[in-house]
Amino acid sequence: MAKQLILVVDDNPTSTKMMSILLRKEGYEVITKNDPFDALKWLRNPTHRPALMISDLNMPGMSGHELVKHIKHDPSLKYLPIIMLTAQHDMAQKVAGFEAGVDDYLTKPVSSTELLLRIRALLARANISSGVKPQADGRVFTVFSLRGGVGRSTVAVNLATALAMIWQVKVPLVDLSLQNGHCALMLNTKPHNTIVELAETITDEIDIDLIEKALHSHPSQVAVLPAPMTAAEAELVSPAVVQQVLPYLRVEYPFTVVDTGAVLDDIVLSAFDQSTHILLVVTPELGSLKAATDSLKIMEELDYAPDLVHLVLNNTFPKGGISPEEIEAALGKKLVGIIPASGSVTAQAINTGKPIVYTTPEHPITRAMVKMAYTFSPDDLKKNLPKPLSPLLRHFYTASKTRH
Ligand SMILES: Nc1ncnc2c1ncn2[C@@H]1O[C@H](COP(=O)(O)OP(=O)(O)O)[C@@H](O)[C@H]1O
Ligand SMILES: [Mg+2]
Repeated sequence: MAKQLILVVDDNPTSTKMMSILLRKEGYEVITKNDPFDALKWLRNPTHRPALMISDLNMPGMSGHELVKHIKHDPSLKYLPIIMLTAQHDMAQKVAGFEAGVDDYLTKPVSSTELLLRIRALLARANISSGVKPQADGRVFTVFSLRGGVGRSTVAVNLATALAMIWQVKVPLVDLSLQNGHCALMLNTKPHNTIVELAETITDEIDIDLIEKALHSHPSQVAVLPAPMTAAEAELVSPAVVQQVLPYLRVEYPFTVVDTGAVLDDIVLSAFDQSTHILLVVTPELGSLKAATDSLKIMEELDYAPDLVHLVLNNTFPKGGISPEEIEAALGKKLVGIIPASGSVTAQAINTGKPIVYTTPEHPITRAMVKMAYTFSPDDLKKNLPKPLSPLLRHFYTASKTRH
């Protein structure tokens, strides 16, 4: 069995070090954070899934109770069992801790035997009830480039359509190209409400029903959360909306796709924070390569894990561009998808509001999109293929066999 991961948060580095030595000796994997803000940032990366957190109470900037409240308000984190470890003996503090959502309370100094027993008990309890808890293991793909016109929306719409059609599931498509979003148009849906309505009604108690009402379904099962109708309305949407909506979608749906504008602002960074995959779109020209280099540099400076970012080459023009090998060498990353040039077919698809993946199963663009969707799908889906196989997936398998 894989080792269970425990997150230890304490502003005192000696305490985290001691705890780490003790827990590792017992066979746990340990991550320590000396700053509660760092801990929260780390937790909000959906690839980090600790089995338990042990937190100190008194920390500068954010108390342990505040940290717990943030965690319990985040639908994708509230599963996390928490032990609060503190020098405080005060009963009122303990009550406040349980109210904030702490699962167990230990007063320092605590013997290592007692600590280990409590950890084991809490982990066992969490395992028993995990069947009914939201697992938050949906995949969120944010499609991004700092360069306009590289095909972000084309990739986002067709990837969402491919995922929905091969696995026959509803796939939310969130349009965060707030000033000029085209996803609703590209799916020929006529939205009566958009992300703006969500921004206006959003409260601490936002629920999935509210979000569902703003999702507009396409026959492919893609459900678009449209961008604002006008550029002026874009200002009404804050990062808080993204921080609240995406975790819900991640809990409810196996896949969510997010389209973005060509800016790296707080909105896009909030989407990155909630993403399991960031798809960086490049075209075979120098401008987009520079934009990709800049984006990778910024993401590195902001401590995003390098394996969160996946490169997609979109050949918006047929010949004479920089080669895939040169692009990989320049960016120091492998391409996960190569989308062929399609002449005017993609533009026609936009004009008619019919994604190529939906209308034309045999088109090379469809093949590339389905291949990418399949590559990004979890193994347990690939091992338990839906019966009967969706036509698009059957087509993909037949085509890949005849090519070999
Ligand atoms: N593979 C492709 N081949 C040909 N044209 C493409 C391709 N991908 C995108 N385009 C065209 O490029 C333009 C910009 O695409 P779009 O998806 O709107 O980009 P973005 O969302 O990055 O601004 C559109 O006119 C679209 O039809
Ligand atoms: Mg776009």
